[in-house]
Amino acid sequence: MQVAEDLHVFPGAKHLPPTYKDPISNPPTLPEAQVSDGSIPIIDLEALHGPRRPEIVKQLGQACQLQGFFAVKNHGIPRPTVDSIFDTTREFFHQPKEERMKFYTPDPNSDIRLMNAYKDEVANVYVARESLKFHCHPVEKYVDKWPTNPPSFRKSSAEYLTNVRRVEITLLGAISESLGLETDYIEKKLGGHYVSLNYYGACEESNLELTYGVRAHTDPTIITILLQDEVPGLQALSEGKWMDVNPIPDTVVVHVGDLLQAISNHRFKSLLHQAMVNCEKERMSIASYCYPSSDAMIGPPEKVDRQ
Ligand code: OGA
Ligand code: NI
Repeated sequence: MQVAEDLHVFPGAKHLPPTYKDPISNPPTLPEAQVSDGSIPIIDLEALHGPRRPEIVKQLGQACQLQGFFAVKNHGIPRPTVDSIFDTTREFFHQPKEERMKFYTPDPNSDIRLMNAYKDEVANVYVARESLKFHCHPVEKYVDKWPTNPPSFRKSSAEYLTNVRRVEITLLGAISESLGLETDYIEKKLGGHYVSLNYYGACEESNLELTYGVRAHTDPTIITILLQDEVPGLQALSEGKWMDVNPIPDTVVVHVGDLLQAISNHRFKSLLHQAMVNCEKERMSIASYCYPSSDAMIGPPEKVDRQ
């Protein structure tokens, strides 16, 4: 996952509204953001398996086209699995720095990688997120590279990631259909799966104006499935304004990534989003990135027109 340093490198940049302000030079804060008013489309995953499938497929297509993101309910990921991945993530990041730093490497191709918080001297902002990113599909291929501290790490991660992969395949089938393609069109292009356990420590108040959780970016994925804990922080650009995407219990948030924008011939828009920190509570999120195999051709199939 990359943090773009310059708006021009965003694949969707030319589609941004003319009034769009560079979020880096005009840092928005949580109170200034438009409060999410329940306008986030909520997709019922269970209903995709029943007679209402055509209706839900249509809703999904509209959400990807109009908003670039949506929430998913009835995703079937058991509550204890969700609790346990958050407990594990918290325990991992609460360990002493030396323990976490065992996973630090400057090599972007490493199978597992800790990314630290950093200060961007040029933009004069602090990016407070620490994250552990690792390959995870198939689990058996990568599990030996994962941490053994906390001891729950491998089991909790495998359980969550197996569940999230199932949700991903179901969604990609419905998204393919919404583009008029065969159900397995996108699934057949899939390669691995990468996850980022994100930890945002509570900031010190004096730093808030200058501190981001993560700066504005689009995800270079097909879709990203984001599990948030109960602390707000995620913002999405919606109709030229930052909108808080506050956590809705028992749902996950799905973002359209750059590659789905390409597959859909720009009918679907890759979502520009960022995360803010707050001064009271730490925040965690689990981002699951799905991406194609390295030999897959990504681009609009003949059938997909821009609408
Ligand atoms: C990401 C991301 C947002 C969040 O991991 O790509 O945008 O709320 N995360 O953690
Ligand atoms: Ni992201």
